[in-house]
Amino acid sequence: MSDVYLNGRFMPMEQAQVPVMDRGFIFGDGVYEVIPVYDRAPLALDRHLDRLAHSLEGVRIANPKSRADWKALVDELITRESAVNQSIYLHVTRGVAPRDHAFPKDATPTVFAMAKPMAPPPLQWLSEGIKAITHEDFRWLKCDLKTTSLLANVLLRQMAVDAGATECLLIRDGYLTEGAASNAMVVVDGLLLAPPRNHLLLPGITYELVLDIAARHHIPFAERPVTEAELRRASEIMMTSSTREIVPITTLDGKPVGNGIPGPVCKKLLSLYQERKRS
Ligand code: PDD
Repeated sequence: MSDVYLNGRFMPMEQAQVPVMDRGFIFGDGVYEVIPVYDRAPLALDRHLDRLAHSLEGVRIANPKSRADWKALVDELITRESAVNQSIYLHVTRGVAPRDHAFPKDATPTVFAMAKPMAPPPLQWLSEGIKAITHEDFRWLKCDLKTTSLLANVLLRQMAVDAGATECLLIRDGYLTEGAASNAMVVVDGLLLAPPRNHLLLPGITYELVLDIAARHHIPFAERPVTEAELRRASEIMMTSSTREIVPITTLDGKPVGNGIPGPVCKKLLSLYQERKRS
């Protein structure tokens, strides 16, 4: 494992320590980013840094670094990690302060960052698809912020694992929102449908890249609410995320999705996404 970054210094992971009064530890009071790196080049870095800025603003933590400084840090992390394909993790908390829910007056944000090797999703996931379950989305109403308070997501993902599935798709008030740690899209009557970007889901960078690809390659799509009924009769379902790219979901709540094998829209998007990565 390459050295990690904590508050201005690189050090071995074992030496990177945060005081127990860090608000990230006490309250989950922080935000984060995960950026995929292929062949030592970060994919869509500016979009990730834009989203980090949005998350920081949303939780009212002053951005501790300029855009140039974030980029320099990401470059340094990439250089220090030996694997050519990596994921970069950036994490900012409100800092160390006596325990009080209200913001401290003069805390300095804690900045932690690391790089680790990133393996592509297992081949079997792409050839056969994965299983997903559904559950009521019991998270809060600021899901557009990528916060480190992930307890609801953790519980929902574990429900999937307990059921022998890989992801849990979330339903709020009869509509699909996203996955516990991914975005979700469906194909209904030949149309690719993506739940709209609003406060109910994270605006995934992979989601945005997939819709860009669909637009450029004339794959019919719409960004609009997806009902639970549409989810259940979809011919294809897929999840997207920076670390898992695009993965077909071929079993939902124990029932086959469409023919129970990865569908043509998902396969086409996957191959175009590989091209996008290479460019
Ligand atoms: N999670 N929605 C949620 C709730 C997520 O946690 C993620 C990704 C996404 C996909 O966003 P993106 O395409 O930008 O990775 C959507 C990351 C990978 C994680 O928490 O590790």
